[in-house]
Amino acid sequence: MCGIVGYVGGQSALDVVIAGLKRLEYRGYDSSGVAVLADGGLAAAKKAGKLVNLEKELVGRPLPAGATGIGHTRWATHGGPTDANAHPHLDNAGRVAVVHNGIIENFAGLRAELAERGHELGSETDTEVVAHLLAESFSSCGDLAEAMRLVCRQLDGAFTLVAVHADEPDVVVGARRNSPLVVGVGEGEAFLASDVAAFISRTRSAIELGQDQVVEVRRDGEGGGAAGVSVSVTDFYGAPGEARSYRIDWDASAAEKGGYDYFMLKEIAEQPKAVADTLLGRIDAGGALRLDELRIPDSVLREVDKVVVVACGTAFHAGMIAKLAVEHWTRIPCETELASEFRYRDPILDARTLVIAISQSGETMDTLMALRHAREQGAKVLAVCNTNGSTIPRESDAVLYTHAGPEIAVASTKAFLTQLVACYLVALYLAQVRGAKWGDEVRDVVRELSEISGEVERVLETMEPVRELARSLAGKRTVLFLGRHVGYPVALEGALKLKELAYMHAEGFAAGELKHGPIALIEDGLPVVVVVPSPRGRSVLHDKIVSNIQEIRARGARTIVIAEEGDEAVVPYADHLIRIPATPTLLQPLVSTVPLQVFACELATARGNEVDQPRNLAKSVTVE
Ligand code: F6R
Repeated sequence: MCGIVGYVGGQSALDVVIAGLKRLEYRGYDSSGVAVLADGGLAAAKKAGKLVNLEKELVGRPLPAGATGIGHTRWATHGGPTDANAHPHLDNAGRVAVVHNGIIENFAGLRAELAERGHELGSETDTEVVAHLLAESFSSCGDLAEAMRLVCRQLDGAFTLVAVHADEPDVVVGARRNSPLVVGVGEGEAFLASDVAAFISRTRSAIELGQDQVVEVRRDGEGGGAAGVSVSVTDFYGAPGEARSYRIDWDASAAEKGGYDYFMLKEIAEQPKAVADTLLGRIDAGGALRLDELRIPDSVLREVDKVVVVACGTAFHAGMIAKLAVEHWTRIPCETELASEFRYRDPILDARTLVIAISQSGETMDTLMALRHAREQGAKVLAVCNTNGSTIPRESDAVLYTHAGPEIAVASTKAFLTQLVACYLVALYLAQVRGAKWGDEVRDVVRELSEISGEVERVLETMEPVRELARSLAGKRTVLFLGRHVGYPVALEGALKLKELAYMHAEGFAAGELKHGPIALIEDGLPVVVVVPSPRGRSVLHDKIVSNIQEIRARGARTIVIAEEGDEAVVPYADHLIRIPATPTLLQPLVSTVPLQVFACELATARGNEVDQPRNLAKSVTVE
C-alpha cells in the first residue's frame, strides 16, 4: 500500500529511486513520482498511472542530476489517482518534498488551519498538509529532522513519511507510526524504503525502525552508518531511539522475475522450495519438533485453553485450515476470525488464550489492530509471518517465520502454502508439549509434511491441462468453487484468486450448503470446481461430495473435479478431472490449492489482465 524510496549517496538519485520504485510497484500502482535535490533547488515529476508513465514523462522532461532524492508509488486513499494527487507533495515555495504511506486522520483540521495561515493547497490528499507543515517548522528550526519531529507530534493516524528539503541537500528524513519503513546502509550510500526489496540489489545491511521514530540519513556525516553516510534515529521528541541492525537473508535475485513472465508464475513455481524451507531447522534428528524461536515458554503453552486465529484474505483461509489442525491434533477449542471484524465484537480473551496472527507482509493494519487488542486483554500473540522485522512480529510475543522469500505478486501463493506449513507446525508443537499426541504420532505427521514439497513439485509438473481448461473458460462470467472440511477454505481461496486476478464473479461454498440456497445459481454450462476430500480417512465426507457433484451436474453444471490419484468414484461425474497426489486429509490443501492458483493466473492472462498488479489492489494493506 504505497511504496516509498529515499536515497542519499554518490549515484544518480533518480536512477536509484526509480529502480527501487520498480521493485515496490506491487505495493501500489495508481500513480508515481520522484523529487531530486540538485543545483541548490528541488525538482520533481509525478504522473498518474503506472510507473512507466512517469518514466516516459522523465524522458520528455528530464530532471537535473542529483545524489539525494525520494520517490513514491501510490495506492490512492484520499483523492483519486490523478497527477495532482500523486506524491511527492511540495510546499508553496517548492523547497520541501514529502512522500507518504498511510492516512493522516486529522488532515482536514490541519488543512483548514494552513489555509487560514495563507497556504495554498492544490491536491485532495491528506499528505499535502505535511509538506506545508514541514516548510513552516523548518523555517523556524532550520533542521529537517527536527521539523519532522515537530510535525509528527501534530499528526493522528498511520504514516510513513519521507522528506527532503532544498536547504539540506545531503539529508533525507523519514518517520514512521503504524506503517513500515526500513533503512538500508550501503557503501557511502543509504536508503529509506517501505520494504527491503527497494534496495536489496545494493545492500543487505538494514536497520529496523521502531514505532514513532524519526530517522535522518546524511551524506558525509558522522555516526553509525557506513563511511560517508550517517544514520541517526530518535523518537518524536528527539530522544535517541533504539533501532535493530540486521542482515537481509534474501539475495537480490529473489526480487527478480528470473525469466518468468510474471512474479506470480515464479512464485507458484517456488512453492516446493518455500514449503521445504519453512520446515528447515525445525525438526530434530529424532523427527520431533523444535521451535526454539517460539519465545512463549512451554509452561504457558500447556495452560492455553483457547486458540484464536486472526488474519485477512488468503491468510484468513490459511487460518481456517489451521483451526481444523489445532482442534484435531490438540483438542483445544480454536476459532478463526477475520482480523477486520475481531476487535469490534468484544471477543472473550484472557491470559490463557493463544492468538495466532497470520500475515505475509507483517504490516496488514487490520491484523495489527486485532493483535494489539488481544494483547491488551492479556492474551499471548504468536505471529506467523514472512517478513523479517515487520510490525506484526515485532509487536507479538513470539513469531514463527515462514521462509517463502519475498512475495512480490499481489496475489498470494507461496506465502499461503508456507502459512499452512507454519500453522501445522504450531498445532503439532502444541500437541507435543501438551502430550495431546504421542511422540511417534507427531513424528509421523512431521515426516508426511517433509514429503509434501515433492508432491507440490509433482502437481506443478502436471498443470498444462489446467492451463488449457482455464483458457477455454476465458469468456465465462461466473465460476463457483465447492469444498468440504479442509476443502472449503481451499474453495474460498480458489474463488478469491479468480476474483482478484480475472475480475470474474467467483464464489466458494461449503458443498453441504448448496441445497440451502446456492444450488439455485446452477445453470447450463456453469463451471463449478469441486475440491474432493480423500476417499480414505473421512470417507463419509467423500461420499457426500460425490453426491453433491451429481446434484449440480444433473442441473447442467460443467464440473471441474480436483481429486486424489486413485479416486475412481468421481470419474463418471467429472467433465474435467484434475489429479492431485494422495496426502493425509489435513495436509491436502498444500496440493489442492496449487491447481487453483495456476487456473486463476492463466485465466487472468487469457483475459488480458495484469497478473502481478490486479486493478484496485495493492500488496500489504496498511490502512484499516
Ligand atoms: C490475496 C491476498 C490478500 C492477502 C491479505 C493479507 O491473494 O494476497 O488477501 O492475503 O491482504 O495480507 P497479509 O498476509 O500480508 O497480512
